[in-house]
Amino acid sequence: MSVLKTVNLRRGISKAAAGVIIAVIVTAIVVGVVTYYAAVSSVPRTTAPPKTVTVTKTVVSTTAVTKTTTSPTTTTAGMPKKITFYTWWAGLERFAIDALIGNFTKKYGIKVVKTAVPGGAGVNAKFAILALIMAGKPPAAFQVHCGPEIISYFMAAPHKEKDFVDLTDVAKEIGLIKTPPAHACMLAGHLYSLPVNLHRANLIFMNKHVLDKYGLKPPKTLDDLLNDCKVLSQHGVPCLIQAGADQFTVLHLWEQIFLAVAGPKKFVQFMYGLLSPDDPSIKKASEIFVELSKTFPSNWMSLDWTSAVDALVKGKGAFHVDGDWVVGLVYNVYKNTKMCSIDNITPDCDIIAAPFPGTQGIYDMVIDAIAVPVGPEEKAGVLFAKFFASEEGQRIFNPLKGSIADYPDIPPSIYPTVIQKWEVKQYRESKYQVFSLTHGALFSDVWKKLLGGAIVLAQTKNLNLWYQTVSSALATEKKEWESSGLFLGSYQEPFAGFLPPWAKK
Ligand code: GAL
Repeated sequence: MSVLKTVNLRRGISKAAAGVIIAVIVTAIVVGVVTYYAAVSSVPRTTAPPKTVTVTKTVVSTTAVTKTTTSPTTTTAGMPKKITFYTWWAGLERFAIDALIGNFTKKYGIKVVKTAVPGGAGVNAKFAILALIMAGKPPAAFQVHCGPEIISYFMAAPHKEKDFVDLTDVAKEIGLIKTPPAHACMLAGHLYSLPVNLHRANLIFMNKHVLDKYGLKPPKTLDDLLNDCKVLSQHGVPCLIQAGADQFTVLHLWEQIFLAVAGPKKFVQFMYGLLSPDDPSIKKASEIFVELSKTFPSNWMSLDWTSAVDALVKGKGAFHVDGDWVVGLVYNVYKNTKMCSIDNITPDCDIIAAPFPGTQGIYDMVIDAIAVPVGPEEKAGVLFAKFFASEEGQRIFNPLKGSIADYPDIPPSIYPTVIQKWEVKQYRESKYQVFSLTHGALFSDVWKKLLGGAIVLAQTKNLNLWYQTVSSALATEKKEWESSGLFLGSYQEPFAGFLPPWAKK
């Protein structure tokens, strides 16, 4: 069922108040998108503006509270009793965040008003947050990905990065800074947001029953996948169930094909806008993408990622390419569905998770983080981010989220699914880590351009138009990195061992 259809205003807010909230936020999104483009992007858009969205504003109850181990030593004197947190973890994605917030409120007595703007990957939320930042009325805390995405918020703020709390010392205090994901998240040695998890983007989920029915094996290479899709198409069965309604799984698919074709080094160059648009890997990946897009179900434009997962679970197609938030969704919502990792496929398994073909040994990281704008609610915002990112917070959040924690010492036994336990091992054994382009590793205007471009490519198969979009996206990405002077990681340990030319001490 679609997230958009399932979100409702909860009890506790009057209809009139709810109306006002919706009006304010929807206006904020619309104004935000328009103003954002006017302010930070001089490159013409190739995408349609975001659809009108339904907005949930919920004061979360503390029903999902687990026992907290530490006593409330931090004083909350002088802090507001209620703060606002902006996120896109709405609808069927709400379980982990609700548990986290419930525990925070129980421990510190501060209510967190979760403003969940639906749309996977933040397709709508990011622009709502940008609008509030531009208007000088940011929330106490908001969800952001590690990667240049946060620099887009700096660009939108009146005093640039000075409008956000530098959380490096907080990360030191809670031992987070020593963890490899947190180190990778740094911008020139500083953390402006605190990582709370580690998701993986380069996964393919398969319905084992569909594979068995057509005598197919899990694909290990792109050729295997193309062959499986050929067989399924001959039987009129959708091969890849990707979703157009919330856009992101389509670019997400292109990204994984590109990663398989280009390899991690060129992938990192793409993130910095340094890869030539004429690189043969872009052409090859895009041609494969077009072939695979022909195997989407006929209703793909009306599916969002949760309804694509629903179709996969129900056997309406063979594969879905997505991140391991799918694991959280299946665990929380499809209680009788058994998931297996590719390393241990048992006969009673329903859904198999594997690295996307050709990307074995690579961890395409998606790291959710919390940023705190400078302002009157800053202290409470920092307290919330600190709790969320702490070992205690990550132990509450990650098991339900489908992700794994950033702290290497947290044992795999805390995770309820075999996939998460497998991911801990996969991450440890991974030879390369990259940052997902669809989830944080692009500036927000570049991201929006590619999101829309990938949808147009899947619809029209017009490769030339797509190459133009990629070329202008790469140029803008480079320009924005250059003008920021920033890079991922620190001078001592730059991300992926690569210090871009604009990184000057
Ligand atoms: C990603 C985010 C995940 C999950 C997913 C689907 O961008 O990092 O935590 O929310 O989108 O919405």
